[in-house]
Amino acid sequence: MAILKIARMGHPVLRRVADPVADPTAPEIRRLVAHMIDTLEDIGGAGLAAPQVHVPLRVVIFRVREDRLTGAEDDTALPMQALVNPVIEPIGDEKALRWEGCLSVPGLRGAVPRWRHLRYRGTDLEGNAVDRTVSGYHAGLVQHEFDHLDGILYPARMTDFTFFGFNEEVAKYPPEMVPAP
Ligand code: NI
Repeated sequence: MAILKIARMGHPVLRRVADPVADPTAPEIRRLVAHMIDTLEDIGGAGLAAPQVHVPLRVVIFRVREDRLTGAEDDTALPMQALVNPVIEPIGDEKALRWEGCLSVPGLRGAVPRWRHLRYRGTDLEGNAVDRTVSGYHAGLVQHEFDHLDGILYPARMTDFTFFGFNEEVAKYPPEMVPAP
């Protein structure tokens, strides 16, 4: 079991474009993912990208919990899993505002415009192709995690800083959500 140190906003590893992984089945990738899962289980959270543990590679882990689903068609639950070299293709041009937090931006949350519906692809640790069409919470989560691989933290995606605050304050005084831009 290894708990890795989380890079926080301001660290250059979070600003750079991460490198593609040549062999998703390589033992060092399996080891990295095992440590990332230990780290995420320890902290508690929905997802983690390799740059957040100071490794500039295109690897993410995430899970989609049943109790977070929005009820939208294609918003589907998933157990914890790893995805290597993922890519996103939006379906349609509709976005929705979703509240997000990030282990690299601790204590804060903000509402971020995200594609409602999308297709994503990547490779799992066995070298199998993953290809899913998702929406709702699942779609928002993968956009957040994949953004980490391009050096983008969620505040950079925000369009209205009315919807940005410390967790406790936002929970106490929830701002009224407005329709997506
Ligand atoms: Ni994050």
